[in-house]
Amino acid sequence: MKAYQLSADYLRSKMGQRKPEIAIILGSGLGALADSIEDPLTIPYYDIPGFPSSTVHGHKGQLVIGRLGNQEVACMQGRFHIYEGIEPEVLQIPLRALKLIGCERVLLTNAAGSLHQEMGPGSLMLIEDHINFTGINPLTGMNDDAIGPRFQDLTQAYDINMRNSIQEVAASMDIHLHNGVYLWAIGPTFETPAEINMFRILGADAVGMSTVPETIVARHCGMQVAAISSITNLGAGMSGNSLSHEETLDEGQKAAQLLGDLIVKWLESQV
Ligand code: HPA
Repeated sequence: MKAYQLSADYLRSKMGQRKPEIAIILGSGLGALADSIEDPLTIPYYDIPGFPSSTVHGHKGQLVIGRLGNQEVACMQGRFHIYEGIEPEVLQIPLRALKLIGCERVLLTNAAGSLHQEMGPGSLMLIEDHINFTGINPLTGMNDDAIGPRFQDLTQAYDINMRNSIQEVAASMDIHLHNGVYLWAIGPTFETPAEINMFRILGADAVGMSTVPETIVARHCGMQVAAISSITNLGAGMSGNSLSHEETLDEGQKAAQLLGDLIVKWLESQV
C-alpha cells in the first residue's frame, strides 16, 4: 500500500462523521487560525502513518479537522519543506491523503517576501501563477496513473473560480488583495539582493520557500487550488535591513489576522 493510502485510511478511521471538503495549509505565523476551528479533531503528524514530521520553528505539525466559517475543513497547521531535507516525492503524501479523505479544494497560505516597494509587509497577495525556480519537482519518479497524468498541465494552476470568489470577499471587506506571481526558491537561506533583482526581471512579484510543490501535487490529483501570500518583508536589499525568520514571523502576525478573517469570510460565502 502507498504511504498516502495508509495516511488516508488512518485519518478516515479517526474522522467519524466528519467530511472535510476544503483543505487549508497554514504557513509560517498563520497557524493561529486552526485554533478557531470548532469541534476540532487534532492529529499530530507523527501519529499519521506515512506522514513526515515538520521541524520548522513557528510550524506546529498537526492536522486539525473540524468546522470553520460553516464549512468542514481539514487544516494542516505546519507544512513540509524541501529545505528540511525531505525527499521531493514525500511532498506528495499529505495532499494526496487529503484528496482521498474527500477534499476537492485546497487553500494554501504562506509567508513571502515582496519584490515591490508598494506591496510592503502586512500586504496580502493572491497567487495567480508561479515560477518554480528550484529545478525540483515533487512528481519526479514513477508516475501513478491512477492519480494523474505523467505530464500535468499547469496552464491554470490556480483556480479562476476560487480566485474570483476570494477577490470578491476581499473587496467586500475593504481588503486590498494584490494579485501576482509567486516564485519558489529552495531556501533555507534568504535570497541575495542580486537574486531578488533577477526574480523581479523574471516576472515574479513575491518569493518564498513553499506552496509551489503543494500546488503541483494537488493539481495532479485533481484538486482545485488557490493560494494567498502574507507579505512579511521586502526582498533582500530592498529595505536596507537584513532578514531574519523572527522578523518574518513578527511581521507575519500583522497580516495573519487579516488573512485569517478573509479565509473565514470566504468559507462562509461558499455553499
Ligand atoms: N524570501 C524567501 N522566503 C520568505 C521570505 C523571503 O524574503 N519572506 C518570507 N519567506
